[in-house]
Amino acid sequence: MWARGPARDGVSSATIVEPSFRIVDLAAYPAGLLAVGVHESGARGAKTAAAGPPRESPGGRLDAATKGALKALLASGDFSGRTGETALLYAPGLEAKRVLVVGLGPELDAKSARLAAAAAARRARELAAGRLALALGDRIEREPALARAVGEGLVTGHHRHTAYLSDGGKPALATAELIVSVKPEAAVREALAVGFARGEAVCLARDLASTPGQDLPPQALAERARDVAKRVGAKVTVMDAAAMERLGMNCVLAVGRGSPHEPCFIELVKEPAGIRAGRAGEKRGSAKPPTVVLVGKGVTFDTGGVSLKPREGMSKMKYDMSGAAAVIGTFAALDTLALPFRLVGLVPSAENAIGGRSFKPGDVLRALDGTTIEITNTDAEGRLLLADALGYAKRFAPEAVVDLATLTGAMSIALGRHAAGLFTADERLAGELHRAGETTGERLWRMPLWGDFLAEMRGDTADLVNSNERREGASCTAAAFLSHFAKGMPWAHLDIASTAWTYNDRPDAARGPNAFGVRLLVEWLESRAGTAPEASAKAAKRAAR
Ligand code: BES
Ligand code: MN
Ligand code: ZN
Repeated sequence: MWARGPARDGVSSATIVEPSFRIVDLAAYPAGLLAVGVHESGARGAKTAAAGPPRESPGGRLDAATKGALKALLASGDFSGRTGETALLYAPGLEAKRVLVVGLGPELDAKSARLAAAAAARRARELAAGRLALALGDRIEREPALARAVGEGLVTGHHRHTAYLSDGGKPALATAELIVSVKPEAAVREALAVGFARGEAVCLARDLASTPGQDLPPQALAERARDVAKRVGAKVTVMDAAAMERLGMNCVLAVGRGSPHEPCFIELVKEPAGIRAGRAGEKRGSAKPPTVVLVGKGVTFDTGGVSLKPREGMSKMKYDMSGAAAVIGTFAALDTLALPFRLVGLVPSAENAIGGRSFKPGDVLRALDGTTIEITNTDAEGRLLLADALGYAKRFAPEAVVDLATLTGAMSIALGRHAAGLFTADERLAGELHRAGETTGERLWRMPLWGDFLAEMRGDTADLVNSNERREGASCTAAAFLSHFAKGMPWAHLDIASTAWTYNDRPDAARGPNAFGVRLLVEWLESRAGTAPEASAKAAKRAAR
């Protein structure tokens, strides 16, 4: 009845080599691309531009080696030093084939370091530079937070989903090196590696969301989750349709019924640092560790079902598992975190296809928690998957549940593409998640969860309807529907339909699925764990030993 497995594996795509530090003479280094960071203040106005960058800065050294090429660029007014802005120079006096001047904004901080590194890696790849050398100043060799940001930026800026290009696209870089003046301390070297690993986790999620529905049906998504879990020492359980039927996950089953690809429910569990699952002699279950649950919508393709979507832009709906990708991507970053709580990832996954077996408007489903739902629109399928997943989350008695879903098109009507919707009644979660959004640039904006919205979702035939068949406040009614299933748990819902796709290339993300949520969740988990990243990375290593 249900076909298994993908036609081919289109997921993997080439990624960058791990960045490293190098002590070399900037002018004598034979890179395909030498990227040099320049501050905005040094570029603003003719007077400061004429003065040029400080002599000891990378910009100053570049200027000296090229007999004023940088000063001339700044004086021209063509380059202001805005964060992530770039200009190419071809100058004599250098071993490098070309120079990329990269803007650092008014000051070097984690954000500008990340974006400058991303912009450099991105241009280096476009130019098929092979070898990238990056000089951002000597604070990089002292401050772990900056080194981490650079690692993250290099990897995410360099990433392209190339799995389906017959020529493989622009070749990946062979090396990416940070030019420094002294050998950095271990904490800084560690931080660069942490940033690299987190960037890789982001790229993994991007590759998942970029993979066409044909090649990443639910069971294939589960295989990817399995690979990740194995790598970071998480336990994984995948329920197939029969297992979901025994449990009563009728909503996931109904959404998946019209597809030849079997739906599934993926459960990832990572025990707190220091506790290893199944280790002999360990008293497990005696004191249940506090648990945080992440839930991700995993619709591997959304046709809308019988309530078929319009044809325009439907191809994008391969990314309707971006919430799932964010959860799996976050798990992929767990070897850079030492969490004092248990982390559970739940991914209900189905293809919302159209066919003779598809669920239909008018059907009534009984969710895992017993709630009955009348289907008024089969295109409102995400909330059905999440209803079962939230019902399942309750068995962990979690101290926090966060779900991520490309849930409603209305989200971008409300907020544009500049923030995802944050729905929660829990003030602590609201504050923590909002802060993580500001820190990472994966911005969240609080949306209302009033009872009035839930009232609009009450049914005549069943307890709830899955759509009130109105466009007004559609993101809010969807969130209210979810709130019914999250009752009693500290819960937040992130509607990422507005942000999970990049429309115009950014320094740190090419057009397409961008893995929104991975960096946000990692930051949030880290802040909740209350540890500095480098400390937690070390702790994670110790725990793994
Ligand atoms: N996956 C879509 C939401 C979506 C739309 C995400 C556009 C990203 C871009 C979701 O399953 C859906 O179809 N939602 C409907 C809900 C409606 C039927 C109440 C929508 O937004 O139109
Ligand atoms: Mn839909
Ligand atoms: Zn959907």
